[in-house]
Amino acid sequence: MTRLKKTVVLVGMMGAGKTAVGTQLAKLLGVPFLDSDDEIVKAANRSIPEIFERDGEAFFRDKESQVLGRLLRGTPCVLSTGGGAFLAEANRAMIAGQGVSVWLRADLDLLWQRVRHKQTRPLLRTANPRETLRVLHEARTPIYAEADLTVDSAPEFSIDAMAQRVREA
Ligand code: S3P
Repeated sequence: MTRLKKTVVLVGMMGAGKTAVGTQLAKLLGVPFLDSDDEIVKAANRSIPEIFERDGEAFFRDKESQVLGRLLRGTPCVLSTGGGAFLAEANRAMIAGQGVSVWLRADLDLLWQRVRHKQTRPLLRTANPRETLRVLHEARTPIYAEADLTVDSAPEFSIDAMAQRVREA
């Protein structure tokens, strides 16, 4: 059982493993695990694709910021965020004030292998989702690089190994 002083906030692209690694890390540290996407879904009572479709991305981003603020004010925990959560400067400022950010860095091929068969990401519902993922990855990389810590993911690392790496970092 660890006494965390600050919330560990996992950031990075879709498919980086934030939820899987975060769940395991929280077990290792003996602290609660929370996921900002799950909290948005609970509050809206709709899935993420439904929120994007019915209310639009701006609405989703607004809810995402509200949820982040609320979760960061709570007991320190491991918090997994959606891939876009670290992009807004105001969100980064909240995270810097109340948490420690960890970028789970993964290369484009690994991300694509992990997301290609899933239908849950509205941003990838395009004519060429791999190209969309590439463009997002390229544009977001310098922003994720502002995180306090970076931990590299690779296909040969198990979820448990990744959680250990984050803990060590
Ligand atoms: C998004 C990533 C998703 C989810 C939403 C938008 C993004 O979360 O928040 O579809 O902008 O990258 P994951 O990173 O958990 O897939």
